[in-house]
Amino acid sequence: MKKDIIRALKQNVNRYISGEQLSELLGVSRTAVWKWINQLKAEGYVIESQTKLGYRLVESPETLFSYEIEPYMNTKLIGKHIIYFDTLDSTNNEAKRLAEKSFEDGTVLIADEQQSGRGRLGRNWVSPKGKGIWLTMMLKPQIAPKDASKLTIIAALAVVRAIRSICKVESQIKWPNDIVLNGKKICGILTEMNAEMDGIHYLIIGIGVNANLDEGDLDETLLDKATSLKAEMNSKVDRKVLIANILNEFEILYHDFIKEATIEKFFEEYKSSSATIGQQVKLVDRKGETIGFAEDLNIEGQLIVRKEDGTLIEVTSGEVSVRGIYGYV
Ligand code: BTN
Repeated sequence: MKKDIIRALKQNVNRYISGEQLSELLGVSRTAVWKWINQLKAEGYVIESQTKLGYRLVESPETLFSYEIEPYMNTKLIGKHIIYFDTLDSTNNEAKRLAEKSFEDGTVLIADEQQSGRGRLGRNWVSPKGKGIWLTMMLKPQIAPKDASKLTIIAALAVVRAIRSICKVESQIKWPNDIVLNGKKICGILTEMNAEMDGIHYLIIGIGVNANLDEGDLDETLLDKATSLKAEMNSKVDRKVLIANILNEFEILYHDFIKEATIEKFFEEYKSSSATIGQQVKLVDRKGETIGFAEDLNIEGQLIVRKEDGTLIEVTSGEVSVRGIYGYV
């Protein structure tokens, strides 16, 4: 109901819509309309009411309510069900809790703030209130667990595409799951799954975009490694529109991948967005450190690295530093 009232108010922007019109449109009494309007006001919507004219929407809050994002979305699966939280420990944690009960495929969790946002390799992810995009997509993909990492590729490409279309800047993918702009990180992706050898029970993709973070929001130790879209572009990003675009782009790529069982169609695009190919890299895994040259990526999403002794290795996961990025010289 709230969604319908907002849609009607937005369609009549700069104009009044009478209580009677609203009540007819929504099939509820005028008193019910009045109650909903009051609830919206309490949520931060500025709505003018004039006795003879009705209601006029003056301003919407920045809050990432589902009904604020949905008007910009054109998906059939991803985000058909969006759950918004003012604050959470972590959207990935909440997704896991929800997945243990039941969830609709494509559900998206969004938090305005995370108290214990998580990054890869047990790191912490700074997620201040009202400044970033902290979301998790919950999926039930019918794919082999070995192909799950391709969904990180898809998510990364979706973010690059969305940033290109909304912010008009070209970001890059630092293999396997960072998005960088001007050599600094603006987005991280954390894919987690619950699977058995032959099938995935559920898979969650957490996306954190430093949209409107200010310098002071980031830990001093991160300043040479991380930044925000706002800091790089000198202007604020509309988080709602960016979220909707990420979900729209993800769905297109996801459907194609599930149908074709390969990332072939967008593999060249993915490679051309890579910040890693053609660079010197330092790989860190349990065995230690390896210096090499990132020659290419293969269709499985592995990084092809030529080691200093001339041999080629295929890297599936782990930590990779790329020369020239995040202060690695
Ligand atoms: C990384 O670069 O290490 C991955 C960062 C992932 C951060 C996002 S924010 C939304 C979701 N919830 C979390 O706790 N983490 C991911």
